[in-house]
Amino acid sequence: MKSLVRENDEILVNSAPKRLHIITFGCQMNEYDSQRMAQMLMDSYRLTPFPEEADLIIVNTCSIREKAEHKLYSLLGRLKGLKRTNPSLKIGVAGCVAQQLGKDLFERAPQVDFVMGPQGLYDLKRIVRCLEKGEERLLKTELNEDFDIPYIDVPLPRRGDVRAFVTIMQGCDNFCTYCIVPFVRGREISRPVDDILREIGSLVDQGVKDVTLLGQNVNSYGKKPSEGVDCPGLLKEIDRAFPGIRLRFTTSHPKDLSDRLIECFGRLGTLCEHLHLPVQSGSDRILKRMNRRYSRAEYLQKVEKLRSACPDMTITTDLIVGFPGETEEDFSQTMSLLEKVRFDQAFAFKFSERPGTAAARFPEKVAEDVKSRRLTKLLELQNQIGLEQYRRFEGRVCQVLVESSSREKLTARTRENHVVNLEGGSNLVGRLINVYIERACHHSLVGRILH
Ligand code: 5AD
Ligand code: SF4
Repeated sequence: MKSLVRENDEILVNSAPKRLHIITFGCQMNEYDSQRMAQMLMDSYRLTPFPEEADLIIVNTCSIREKAEHKLYSLLGRLKGLKRTNPSLKIGVAGCVAQQLGKDLFERAPQVDFVMGPQGLYDLKRIVRCLEKGEERLLKTELNEDFDIPYIDVPLPRRGDVRAFVTIMQGCDNFCTYCIVPFVRGREISRPVDDILREIGSLVDQGVKDVTLLGQNVNSYGKKPSEGVDCPGLLKEIDRAFPGIRLRFTTSHPKDLSDRLIECFGRLGTLCEHLHLPVQSGSDRILKRMNRRYSRAEYLQKVEKLRSACPDMTITTDLIVGFPGETEEDFSQTMSLLEKVRFDQAFAFKFSERPGTAAARFPEKVAEDVKSRRLTKLLELQNQIGLEQYRRFEGRVCQVLVESSSREKLTARTRENHVVNLEGGSNLVGRLINVYIERACHHSLVGRILH
């Protein structure tokens, strides 16, 4: 759970009279959506890190794994108390849980004034105006197939950030059997190239130097014939327009990772040598049940192609353990895939049954203690592999982008997406510098500035 602004965060100081507090759960798409909400309301609301002084609180929710509803209700319980001290406070719930629960939320939590899904958030300004006029219980949860993501032409609320995210598409058409995203975020919709270029341009003008393109399935960007430019085409346009930046994208589906896209690594100067490529399982039987539409061998082949295009590439992944029907043999296939690929990092989750998904109806559920045991075993192996992978940088000189500073300690990032901790002055924030990598830790590197 994150608040959009923290104390001492450098934010655009606007003179708006009212105060807005946004709490964000979940992925980077949600963080981006929260920023958009703040942008949309900027002429009448300024951000505050303190919920108790807010006139409007928005909770931006995530439903990808269980406990999301539980967490939301307990947070809403706490926020209810604030309404007693400030009766004019308005509370809204946005995002995937809002989409999933819809008007039921008003019954379970009467302190909620409005509910809006991931498409509905673009209507936020109108919703807030209606609330201010005294309307109650506003709901915006339709999902439209021909929805266009609007361009919001106002400055971003935060300043001083070296990295930024830009959504290039939203929704998903893949229907992996465990996943709730296609139900709560709707069909895939790509943003127009010109809007993306304009938004990156505005970020670059504000000093951003590292841009991550976001979407549930970024490499199927522009797949409708009417859209014209596909993912490699978009990367090339961005590379041409902004040759000074570092460019990344996430998340990718292995089945849509084309040879043309692989060729972009190593050829486009801006494109960083890092790819997040969720594999989910190492067993063909489970991949089929998950409806992933690639085999273990096809995944391994793509990894090989990536590494021959770019030998030092960082590859990270997502994994699910305890999917219905997963046997010890299936699980050992996942463990052996980890040893084969040697990911730099892996995000592993216990299967969580999501209402309305196909896998929620699958038999042969795996017991909770078995899931926990498998997760622990998998993380132990991955921690060891991850550390060994990070160690390949020890003794090397890397160019890093300095992202932030705190009391003479700097946090920087390599092109391959490794965080590097250094000592140095705050004047280096936003600069590209050469560092000597002294040692590797779990999930980070320690470096020394070369003069
Ligand atoms: N249970 C467990 N993990 C899930 N993920 C998505 N849905 C589920 C689920 N029902 C994981 C996948 C995905 C990541 C974002 O979350 O690994 O790649
Ligand atoms: Fe979910 Fe699969 Fe779509 Fe990813 S590709 S958002 S896991 S349905």
